[in-house]
Amino acid sequence: MGTITLSETNQDVIKNILGKVTNVPMLPQVVMRLLTLIGNSDHSLHEVVKIVESDAALTARILRVSNSAAFFRGNQVHSVSKAILQLGEKMVAGIAIGSCTSDVFKSPLHGYESAEGELWDHSLRTAIASREIASKFAKGVGADLAFTAGLLHDIGKAILSEFLKGSTREMAQKCDAGSYDFLQAEIEHSGTNHAAVGEVLANHWNLPIAIVEAIQHHHSPAAAGDEFRALVYAVHLGDLVAMMGGTGTGADTLAYKIDPGYEEYFTVDKDAIPELMLLVQDEFTRTKSAVFLDEGV
Ligand SMILES: [Fe+2]
Ligand SMILES: [Fe+2]
Repeated sequence: MGTITLSETNQDVIKNILGKVTNVPMLPQVVMRLLTLIGNSDHSLHEVVKIVESDAALTARILRVSNSAAFFRGNQVHSVSKAILQLGEKMVAGIAIGSCTSDVFKSPLHGYESAEGELWDHSLRTAIASREIASKFAKGVGADLAFTAGLLHDIGKAILSEFLKGSTREMAQKCDAGSYDFLQAEIEHSGTNHAAVGEVLANHWNLPIAIVEAIQHHHSPAAAGDEFRALVYAVHLGDLVAMMGGTGTGADTLAYKIDPGYEEYFTVDKDAIPELMLLVQDEFTRTKSAVFLDEGV
């Protein structure tokens, strides 16, 4: 199991958090195989098709989404390969993750004073923004990988939330007073923070190392391993763009510290940010209604 050792003083709470992570159901094999494959830049469409077709429910879902109003282009899609080409691999991975983790994502984050569904909204917006930043500005960072990492970056909050319940006001006040940021507030109240808890959950799920690093370091990208740092900075900025667009996850949103170290890895054209925010909003609306509201598709 994981290595949450940020505070020596809250060992009992940390033990409880680890216990909670252990009880989170594993991701289905089909999702793991998809994530691993898509995380590897050297793969073919055929391999993605094979994995999707190995799971009847996922196959049905992918076809259903590609024939939904948001994606329908005049012809019914009956083949998985056509559907994947139409939706894009990142969307396929998003659909696969979304369909099996909705309980985790959709639970209200009481400890962050964040409503039901807000984590999912924020995560999807961060995923889209991270992907766009990766493809427009960060050369050498896989856009699909940035999407998946962005989607999962705050997953630790789903676990940590219940251990912060009742302390949120006080934490937010301290952040407002400028004494410290929300991550430090989390550590003070629980002994750990959502990035560290997310890392443990990501390891519990056996996610690829690049995604584990992005989750663990999305608030401290400089600490990521050399080969993952540009990806982690893309998610760090994607997170910020999602928040600038008005969706964070409650109380922590105002206490976000940007690390300017991204400039070493890529140059973000500041004039492109408003356009990026619009694109995120647009694609978020399209994606959310088409993919994640199960019954509405
Ligand atoms: Fe975060
Ligand atoms: Fe976030």
